[in-house]
Amino acid sequence: MTTRREFLRAVGVSGGAGAMFATMGALGLAPDAAHAATPKYHAPSPGDFTLTGRSAKKVVILGGGVAGLATAYELGKAGYDCTVLEARAVAGGRNRTIRGGDTETDLDGRTQRATFSDGQYLNAGPARLAQWMVTLDYCRELGVPVEVFTNSNADALIYNAGMSAPVRYRTAKADFYGYVAELLTKATNQGALDTALTADDKARLVSFLSGFGALTGGVYQGTSRRGYASDPGAGNDAGTLLGAPPALSDVLASGAGRYFSFELGYDQAMLMFQPVGGMDAIPRALTGAIGARRVVLGAAVTSVTSSERGVTVRYTRAGRAAEIKADFCVATLPPHLMARVPHNLGPDVTAALGAFGVTASGKIGLEYRTRWWENELGIYGGITETDLDLAHVWYPSYGYHGRRGVIVGYYNTGASAVSYGALTHPERLERALTQGAKIHGPRYRQDLASSFSIAWQKVPYLEGAWTGAPYGTAGYDLLLQPAGRVYFAGDWLSHAIAWQHGALVSARAAVTALHSRVMTSS
Ligand code: FAD
Ligand code: PHE
Repeated sequence: MTTRREFLRAVGVSGGAGAMFATMGALGLAPDAAHAATPKYHAPSPGDFTLTGRSAKKVVILGGGVAGLATAYELGKAGYDCTVLEARAVAGGRNRTIRGGDTETDLDGRTQRATFSDGQYLNAGPARLAQWMVTLDYCRELGVPVEVFTNSNADALIYNAGMSAPVRYRTAKADFYGYVAELLTKATNQGALDTALTADDKARLVSFLSGFGALTGGVYQGTSRRGYASDPGAGNDAGTLLGAPPALSDVLASGAGRYFSFELGYDQAMLMFQPVGGMDAIPRALTGAIGARRVVLGAAVTSVTSSERGVTVRYTRAGRAAEIKADFCVATLPPHLMARVPHNLGPDVTAALGAFGVTASGKIGLEYRTRWWENELGIYGGITETDLDLAHVWYPSYGYHGRRGVIVGYYNTGASAVSYGALTHPERLERALTQGAKIHGPRYRQDLASSFSIAWQKVPYLEGAWTGAPYGTAGYDLLLQPAGRVYFAGDWLSHAIAWQHGALVSARAAVTALHSRVMTSS
């Protein structure tokens, strides 16, 4: 079969460099197509004010999540006097890393204290970053070291209820790809696609399918792609292949095929990255760059009043009412919570904020005294997919070959997340272990050291994992504009909801709008 390089060389020879580049563009390989840039962003700078007679203003920022912190950081570059009001005891919002000693009290009053050992952690919210996300640009700019996050792993497992045993991702994939390739080869050869394909197209397609499915004479028989019962060894030991593939009908019935599209997603394709030591390195670095004194923790905003001359924000801190006045405000609270804050921005704003649906999500971190998934199963990071209510089981992408590690025992959303969230913490653990043992067997209960679970819909001042977005509605568009002197920002005002990228680009948009208003105001 022709490799991509051979193919491109052949085009180059017959059509010249121009033809080759056009072909590469069609394949999405030309440099500009290969790195579609995030729209250009120019941070405000002190030089912007030189000779204009204008100066940086005072800005109060509501919410110290990634959007609020990035707003203060970006405005601070030009000398704006920013204060971030954050209701929780730590900044970062949904960007939360749980380590030993951390506590969390759910809205129902139940408290959990993490006892993870040193160096072990659970990224309770964000955990992975795609290479195109501006989140990585901030990591670079702020000196936050990153490492690969293994988002798909051929040696991880797939387990659906009804399977007699879990199957390796690679095995299930080989069978699905193999049979699909065989069927399409048959259809092509039998003329079923003659109206769509020329004779040349057919030959090329059949050739592609042969490699795609690892076919022999157009037939899928299973190959080493499925894996080995005994790995290849020394001398004449060719290893023992896993047996022949199950029948096509059984492969389809397994339901494993639904998982293979995930790795192709623009936001989920490997390589992915994570900050070394925990995702909260990002809010910590932002806070350090802003100056911790500008981030007021434990400050719960209670009202916002915008007037022609400025903004007044009231808040409570340690049981005391306080007030801050500023020239402008950037509000980054989750929309369903901002909708409850009394303000004078008009009923349309309240209605628009209230129109965002909220998603529940939960995770549990399980710390084990041995890394049995590596030692016994040869799984180094990655995700086991299941149709059990656990949804996803993650193996840690750090600390390989170390003594301990934290598995994410479930990462679910929607109804499963709501039902786990309704349980007490010990009940959540018990259910996670019972379900997980269906995949990993009794060893799932051995060597367990501790656990910590989060139900985002029950976390004070967040009350949800992420929102839907009423794109294209008048309400959504209204919130993209300032309401008087109040600007809105957060991942919910982006096309990358449930990603810090969305929070960051939204913050940049608010910063740009605010700064250009200051630069053009008389
Ligand atoms: P938030 O983090 O919600 O910040 C809002 C802030 O407002 C909070 O700090 C809150 O405490 C504060 N606040 C609320 N009410 C008040 C009040 N009255 N007064 C003062 N402050 C208040 N992103 C990724 O990049 N990669 C991932 O892998 C990823 N996975 C995720 C998995 C889960 C389970 C979750 C929940 C999120 C995930 N995300 C991921 C999304 C990411 O966490 C968010 O997009 C981002 O953190 C949102 O930042 P934000 O500043 O817009 O909002
Ligand atoms: N960003 C979150 C995560 O990666 C939520 C999400 C899941 C977003 C799947 C898109 C697809 O876990």
